[in-house]
Amino acid sequence: MGEIKGTTRVCGLIGNPVGHSISPVIHNTLADLCGIDMVYTTFKVEKGAVDTAVKGAHALDILGLNVTVPHKQEVIGALESVDPLAEAIGAVNTLVRTEHGYKGYNTDILGLERELEEEQVELKDSPVILLGAGGAARAIAFLCVSKGAKEVAILNRTEEKAAVIAEDVNRHLQSKAAYAMKLSDYGKLTGENYVVIQTTSVGLYPNCDDAVIEDEDFYKRAAVGVDIIYNPAETKFMKLMKAQGKPAYNGLKMLLYQGVSAFELWNDMKVSKENIRKVYENMQK
Ligand code: ATR
Repeated sequence: MGEIKGTTRVCGLIGNPVGHSISPVIHNTLADLCGIDMVYTTFKVEKGAVDTAVKGAHALDILGLNVTVPHKQEVIGALESVDPLAEAIGAVNTLVRTEHGYKGYNTDILGLERELEEEQVELKDSPVILLGAGGAARAIAFLCVSKGAKEVAILNRTEEKAAVIAEDVNRHLQSKAAYAMKLSDYGKLTGENYVVIQTTSVGLYPNCDDAVIEDEDFYKRAAVGVDIIYNPAETKFMKLMKAQGKPAYNGLKMLLYQGVSAFELWNDMKVSKENIRKVYENMQK
């Protein structure tokens, strides 16, 4: 990390817990590589204290914040303005300082968009299957429909949660593309060449041998698989996908690009491909 001086700007992560976060590595490496006089740390903020934290951060001239569990929804009430996509999703993970408060963005979704672009996974006119209906699935459903996916089947163990997301997405984006299904009904999907995005917590370390769907016929219908999990680096879902000869990617680049996108917003710049590659290497150490 560069020397901290009187001019050094502060950014950080608010949430609880925050101690395990890889974001300080991403941002402090980026600051070093790009020669930006900025330091990034974590701030543990208890549930219910987010409004006070955001006001205090503004008073302290903090340049930008990332927001994680449990504040991604609640923080919206503390903001000066919200980017329209983040507002529709109902979740914000990045705050950018403006004169009178912070503007909220959802760079989780910008991160996935950049990962998909880089891996040449095309959403436009593609059939998409989303596994899961938590906060991540909600944001991804918005991305898929807004990018012109032909259909977005949201499959969840608790079908009602998938139905709420499908309805919200279709209403906000004036679309009919999203629909809900019970996870165990996956056999009813009879199309081909699906982009399958795995957003459930199944397969996350230490339960590395689990996948929400084990049936190889399901994976035969896929064109490509993306798991938002990055620990382990290769999930059971990815292994099942690869066993059918299909490409599969983990969530590490999504995490990388959510950070890069936030850094670019805070510092009003574009990070070079070379520096992005170096940060990615650092994250894998
Ligand atoms: P996030 O906000 O990170 O997306 P979340 O809100 O905790 O995470 O959502 C976890 C997702 O994993 C949900 O879709 C959950 O299904 P339910 O809505 O039915 O709970 C899914 N999930 C977790 N454990 C699961 C399991 N054993 N089998 C199937 N789905 C599971």
